[in-house]
Amino acid sequence: MKIDINNITMIYPSGKKALRDISVSLESPGFIGILGPNGAGKTTLMKLLIAGLIPTKGEIALDGKPLLSQETRLKAQLGYLPQSFGLYDELTVWQFLDYMAALKGVKDKKAVDDVISRTSLTEQRKTRIRRLSGGQRQRVGIAQALLGDPQLIILDEPTVGLDPEERVKFRNIFSEMAQNKIVLLSTHIVEDVQAVCSRVLVIYDGLILYDGSPSALISDAASHVGTYISQAGDSVPEGCHVVSKVNVSEGIRCRIVAEELPKIAESAEPTLEDAYLYCIHKEGRQ
Ligand SMILES: Nc1ncnc2c1ncn2[C@@H]1O[C@H](COP(=O)(O)OP(=O)(O)OP(=O)(O)O)[C@@H](O)[C@H]1O
Ligand SMILES: [Mg+2]
Repeated sequence: MKIDINNITMIYPSGKKALRDISVSLESPGFIGILGPNGAGKTTLMKLLIAGLIPTKGEIALDGKPLLSQETRLKAQLGYLPQSFGLYDELTVWQFLDYMAALKGVKDKKAVDDVISRTSLTEQRKTRIRRLSGGQRQRVGIAQALLGDPQLIILDEPTVGLDPEERVKFRNIFSEMAQNKIVLLSTHIVEDVQAVCSRVLVIYDGLILYDGSPSALISDAASHVGTYISQAGDSVPEGCHVVSKVNVSEGIRCRIVAEELPKIAESAEPTLEDAYLYCIHKEGRQ
């Protein structure tokens, strides 16, 4: 499967320009993470890909044919977890997934049990959804997206609100997925991208700032990450963005990203999180 996003601009009826002339190709196999701050355009891009929104300008092609002419095929091959979704609280996990399988036209009777076991919900299969924890509910959302073995899986912030143990479970679900799909995942949690994605898109203010491997993004930030000790009340040196502050015996250890590190800073090895922040702050962006 191949999806070509060609010069897409999305302007909402309110006049808000959510995506600005972006072009990108997604090909199977591909585990692709989308990173970007709130309001960057991640959900908008995903809604365009599921044909839930029609772009103001540009075209999306599925295997070379216009996406909007391929809706039946798209729906048959799509698993989608929206950023906010309602579950039927009075149904049990199994009943809900059985209902979703029927809506999706999944005929395989084992499909529901299969996604329940893949998302480690076997113990909760007879539990009513209203009694689940936030992380378990999120796993039910992921489970419904996996029903019917879709070739295109789009997960909008699947790990939001999950504790570290739940996030590990989520990563395991990913690593066990067949490798012949396109999986697109948006998140604010950089570690999740590092753990599961071979490609990362950084979106900022409707533009794609970076498209490549996580390791190349990290290389781009080399010599732009540093640490120094400051005292309470000191201002941040010009052009620097603080990534973290830790109290230590000598004062406050600040970790910064900057186009040019100030003399007081010692250079540090970038992490993916540093690299992402450097990417969205460089060239005077906020
Ligand atoms: N239905 C809508 N009508 C008008 N503006 C919208 C609509 N949906 C989103 N926007 C605006 O478009 C921009 C992009 O929104 P989008 O939801 O795609 O961002 P996002 O990257 O998913 O953010 P978040 O991380 O908060 O989920 C934002 O400025 C948002 O306010
Ligand atoms: Mg969003």
